[in-house]
Amino acid sequence: MNILREKIHNIIIENGPISIASFMEISLNDKKYGYYRKKMPLGSQGDFVTSPDISQIFGEIIGIWILDIWLKLKEPSNFQIVDLGGGRGTLLKDINRVLKNKVSNFIFIDINEELIKLQKKALRDASHFEKINDIPKIPTIFIGNEFLDAFPVHQFIKKDKCWKEVCINSKNYELFFSYESTKLSKKISLSNSSNFREGSIIEINFKTRKIINNISNFIRENSGAAIFFDYGYMDGYGDSFQGIKDNKKTNPLSDPGLVDLTSHVNFKDIRLQAKKNNINFYGPNTQGSFLEQMGAIQRLEFLEKKATNHQKKELRIGLNRLMSESEMGNLFKVIALSSKNFPSLEGFTCGTTKNKE
Ligand SMILES: C[S@@+](CC[C@H](N)C(=O)[O-])C[C@H]1O[C@@H](n2cnc3c(N)ncnc32)[C@H](O)[C@@H]1O
Repeated sequence: MNILREKIHNIIIENGPISIASFMEISLNDKKYGYYRKKMPLGSQGDFVTSPDISQIFGEIIGIWILDIWLKLKEPSNFQIVDLGGGRGTLLKDINRVLKNKVSNFIFIDINEELIKLQKKALRDASHFEKINDIPKIPTIFIGNEFLDAFPVHQFIKKDKCWKEVCINSKNYELFFSYESTKLSKKISLSNSSNFREGSIIEINFKTRKIINNISNFIRENSGAAIFFDYGYMDGYGDSFQGIKDNKKTNPLSDPGLVDLTSHVNFKDIRLQAKKNNINFYGPNTQGSFLEQMGAIQRLEFLEKKATNHQKKELRIGLNRLMSESEMGNLFKVIALSSKNFPSLEGFTCGTTKNKE
């Protein structure tokens, strides 16, 4: 029997159905059996491969994006780069290749012991923290690739003119969805009912809000910027809660702790939090457009000059996967935040939303 399924079943029998957010919290972050605590989720042996491990050009282009900021700031020595959820460490390693001898303060924030071991190997001199609040208070660039989608989301459905929370119930250890009247659903019914059709689904991610508020506070007080690459939306999306196992979509309730759980990121909500915090918001641009604008094709051509035929083929396949509209180029979006005193950020002048707000 899956140990987390048993744990979740017992919680439900004792206290009633739990929210999707609580289910995600236990399944992903349980100290002993949570997906992001123990398992090796990434790479060819894991459930999915991410952009830094698909092509070195991804990290190098982010390195160039950071270099542009650092030069515009007149080359400060008091400056650090933080990778939020650093995965296998590939991204910071590739960024370091571009920034070598210029910026040397690198920080990983992560909770997965296996991945932290790999990060230590990838970049020996980097520091490691579990929380943003613990890092040095100096000008900072935060990077999050596929970081925000992992945080627990609440989901609500409009039923009989009221909102119900989509929850998880259990019978004989079989987990299934149920619609419940909760404190949160009642609050939403009071504030937000008339312009949604019956059956509409909305998602609210309080944890992402908290992280964005935290980062916004940090860069407002210490100066800096943050860039995020993720799948997400500006306008109402519906049900985006999903499970991923062995590179395929799977029933998110099937195997708690052994399946990655994600939801699409609500960029409009992030823009709202940025505005409230008096922080600049950029994007969303598509990943393809961002990489193109920042010179990914030129970088590919440069690398090809010294590559063997086999390496050339690999480089082309990798970059095409990141940039092509039919692969990750359109699905993945890029957004950024910056403190008001910061230089303007490159890579956001074309794409789905052109304006900086
Ligand atoms: C989908 S992976 C992306 C990894 C990496 N950014 C990449 O692109 O390869 C999510 C990362 O976030 C980390 N993570 C998940 N929850 C976290 C949390 N609450 N705090 C810090 N890191 C977390 C995971 O361990 C993992 O390294």
